[in-house]
Amino acid sequence: MDKDRIIHLLVNEETDSLFQKADDVRRKHCGDEIHLRGIIEYSNHCRCLCAYCGLFADNHDLPRYRMNQEQILETALKAFNQGVRTIVLQGGEDTHFNADLLCEIIQDVKSIGDVAVTLSSGEFPRDDYQKMRDAGADRYLLKIETTNPEIYKRLHPGLSQENRIRCLHDLKELGFQTGSGALIGLPGQTIEDIADDILFCANLNLDMVTFSPFIPHPGTPLAKESGGDWLFSHKVLAVSRLAMPDAHIPCSTALASITPDDYKTSLKSGANVVMADLTPPEFVEYYDIYPGKAPTGDKKERDAVQRLKNIIAELGRPLAVNRGDSLIQ
Ligand code: 5AD
Repeated sequence: MDKDRIIHLLVNEETDSLFQKADDVRRKHCGDEIHLRGIIEYSNHCRCLCAYCGLFADNHDLPRYRMNQEQILETALKAFNQGVRTIVLQGGEDTHFNADLLCEIIQDVKSIGDVAVTLSSGEFPRDDYQKMRDAGADRYLLKIETTNPEIYKRLHPGLSQENRIRCLHDLKELGFQTGSGALIGLPGQTIEDIADDILFCANLNLDMVTFSPFIPHPGTPLAKESGGDWLFSHKVLAVSRLAMPDAHIPCSTALASITPDDYKTSLKSGANVVMADLTPPEFVEYYDIYPGKAPTGDKKERDAVQRLKNIIAELGRPLAVNRGDSLIQ
C-alpha cells in the first residue's frame, strides 16, 4: 500500500466500509481468535522527558513506585492461572531496572510455564537486548511515537529518533517479535505524517503494531493541546490492518479509556488483541501516563482479565488459548 492510498482511505473512505474491509482482512489473515495479553506496569520511574507523558521525569507531583521481583512474579502467576499466556512487562525508563535485573525477572516469569514474555522497557544498547533475549524474552514493544523528525525532536528532549530506529532494527535482528506504532493527534502532526507512520511500521515488517490517540495530561507541557480524534484514531487502526494484514494489532487502551465499548468497535475493525492491566491496585493509579487510563475507586479492585473475557464472550468470538505468537511470514 502506498502513501496516496493510505491518505485516500483515511480521508475519503466511508467509515463503515473501511471498518468492514479491515474486519474482513483480519478474519482472513488472523482468524477469529482474540488474544488476551496481561500487562504488568512494574515501575513508573522514568528518566525521559517525553512532553506528552504523565510519567515524564519532571512530573514531581507523581508518587513513584517500583514493584519488587516477588510482586511481579506473583502477579504473573495469578494471570497465568487465569489462562493468560503472554505477560507484558512495561515500565518507564528506570535505571534501577537494568538489563541484569530485567533478565532475572524474565527468567522468573518464564519459569511459570509456557508463557511468552514481552518487554516494553524502552531504549537499551544492543548488548542489553541480547542479554534479555538470551534470558528468554520473546517479544519487545517500542513505539516510534512519531516518524516526523521535527515533532519527534520537539517532544522528546534528550532522545534521538535515530537511536530509537537503531533499537527497533536491533530487536528484529536479535529475533524478538517486535512491535511499534505511533501516537495520533500530536500537536503539529498531519495526515501525511500518520501515513508515514503506517508505512514505517509496514516497511519494518513488524509482528505487532499499535496506533493510539494522544490524550493530553494536565501535568505535562502539552496539557492545553487538543488530543487525538476518536473516530480518526479508529480509522487509523483499520487502515493499519489493511496495510499490515497479519500483524497482531491490539485495541488501544487509550481508545478504550474514552468509552469501554471501543474495545468492541476496535475488535470489529481490525484489532485482534486485548491487553488486561494486571498492575496491582496499590500501584495502578500511579501509572498515570494519560488521564482516565487507570481505574479508580472500586473499579480498581475489579478483575481486568475477567472483564475482558466477558467483552470477548459478548462479541461471540473465541478466546485464544495459545501464546499467540507472530503470524507474519
Ligand atoms: N496519550 C496517549 N498515549 C500516551 N503514551 C504516553 N503518553 C501518552 C498520552 N498522553 C503512550 C506512548 C508510550 C506508551 C507506553 O504510552 O505511546 O509508548
